[in-house]
Amino acid sequence: MQINFTNIFPSYELIDCGNGKKLERFGNIVLIRPEITASNKPHLTYKDWKDMANAEFIETSKNSGYWNIFKDFEKPWYIEYKDEQIYIKACLNLTQSKHIGIFPEQVLNWNFIKSISKNYQNIKFLNLFGYTGLTSVAAAPFSKTITHIDSIKKVVDWTKLNAKNSGFDNIRAICEDAPKFVEREIKRKNKYNAVILDPPPIGVGANNEKWILNKMLDKLLKNISILLEEKSFVIMNSYSHSLSENAINTMIEENFPNHKTTLNEKIFGLSKYGNTIDHGIFIHLES
Ligand SMILES: C[S@@+](CC[C@H](N)C(=O)[O-])C[C@H]1O[C@@H](n2cnc3c(N)ncnc32)[C@H](O)[C@@H]1O
Repeated sequence: MQINFTNIFPSYELIDCGNGKKLERFGNIVLIRPEITASNKPHLTYKDWKDMANAEFIETSKNSGYWNIFKDFEKPWYIEYKDEQIYIKACLNLTQSKHIGIFPEQVLNWNFIKSISKNYQNIKFLNLFGYTGLTSVAAAPFSKTITHIDSIKKVVDWTKLNAKNSGFDNIRAICEDAPKFVEREIKRKNKYNAVILDPPPIGVGANNEKWILNKMLDKLLKNISILLEEKSFVIMNSYSHSLSENAINTMIEENFPNHKTTLNEKIFGLSKYGNTIDHGIFIHLES
């Protein structure tokens, strides 16, 4: 499915993409960042891009590099997502990786949380690999507590800031290794109505535990299934370059036999000029 995210998230715009880069607007700030899936030819020239952009991230090695600032601006800066039930004030900043504190395509999951929440009262959420907590903030109006897990202290603090700025005090943001936390919750006999997970292909836990998606996802999903209440839902994002779609589908069928898959689709972000970038697969399961 191709989606122009500006239609559902007006503060964000994919203006153009191609030649391994993307040109995006976050509020009033325009950035050029590397994008491995932008394999087409861009619509505009690189000069057009530079004239529009405030800054460009130059990658020097995988996941690190530096920002070239073309037009200086105040940092951090803030953008909002608002509908009749969800309010998110996202604090954004340039970091030493190309990321800036938001994955705007997650708006699809925010909308799903809003619609499925009608069938529940006070959902107990667990958000694993939660980054700066914007999906936790989206879930906050529908929940007594959201338990948010990430292994990097800086992004856990960033989550607390996003929660506070958005007016929520029900997000428990914890710096821990996601698989270990799940194992501990099983021992503590805790249960959840909803588990959200956006596992990276490779990661590091809070105590340097190794996370390798294609070797560890199956066990994590098995453990998550133990944590789920009978009436529950799961939201998962996955990037097929490290695990095949077939392998993921088999894991889902085996670990969640009582859930039906209501979404399992590759999502492409559509630019203003009609070219696309790949956001991987979005999976929604409901019992
Ligand atoms: C792709 S991001 C998640 C984006 C998030 N869903 C959002 O919408 O903002 C992956 C996150 O996983 C975290 N991470 C990596 N390995 C981890 C581990 N072993 N335990 C917990 N978090 C981990 C990283 O710090 C990073 O914040």
